[in-house]
Amino acid sequence: AVAPLGAGLRFLITAGPTQEALDPVRYLSNHSSGKMGFALASAARALGAQVTLVAGPVHLPTPAGVERINVLSANEMLAACQAHQAQSDLFIACAAVADYRMATPAEQKIKKTASETLTLELIKNPDILATLAASSPRPFCIGFAAETQQVLEYAQQKLIRKNLDAIVANDVSDPSIGFGSDQNRVTLLWQDQQHQLQQQDWPATQKATLAHQLIARLITLYQEQRSI
Ligand code: PMT
Repeated sequence: AVAPLGAGLRFLITAGPTQEALDPVRYLSNHSSGKMGFALASAARALGAQVTLVAGPVHLPTPAGVERINVLSANEMLAACQAHQAQSDLFIACAAVADYRMATPAEQKIKKTASETLTLELIKNPDILATLAASSPRPFCIGFAAETQQVLEYAQQKLIRKNLDAIVANDVSDPSIGFGSDQNRVTLLWQDQQHQLQQQDWPATQKATLAHQLIARLITLYQEQRSI
């Protein structure tokens, strides 16, 4: 019998949004449902890989055979990823991580005042993907780029700036293929051995179907690059 494509490989995958507390009852977040990241985890598992899924707060069942770690904030997601990176061959950052959090979350519920405005001071969150990509030894690092304009150009910039092995460009200006939808349409970008930019496009399709094709392509890309 032929071993499945993912046999012997260990994936670390982030999915969903993060939640950044403003006070004990409120938070900053976004509309990521986790569907894309969970579909990737399920597909990698189905292809025979071992999968750790670091999930923000989402309402999705854990795919069979996948180890799931639930987190809320970007800092918690970073800690969980760092704890698992040494045991991972491929890291896929599909989570929509909040770029900022409250500088100092209020200890008590923020009260409404007579003022018509309220100013919150936010500070930058760590970039989980860039942090793992800059570490050594590091897993093969794949990012997502959720963009609403100049999608391929911005994705290419993130590929280079974050020192990634590949990036999945996702046009989220179209609600049928972005946050919360069941379908997606993406372009995979990577650099070949001569540092030439390469790309592969997938038409709009179910996230589950796309996830299988993407995982299979990422495994072959990983194997090609590792054999250099
Ligand atoms: O969850 P769904 O509803 O199915 O929607 C899927 C999706 C649209 C969320 C997904 O396909 C997607 O595009 N995820 C990336 C969302 C995102 O935050 O992209 P970004 O361009 O802001 O970030 C670039 C990359 O850096 C991403 O891989 C992100 O996970 C990572 N990042 C960003 C900020 C940060 N502090 N840490 C990170 O690791």
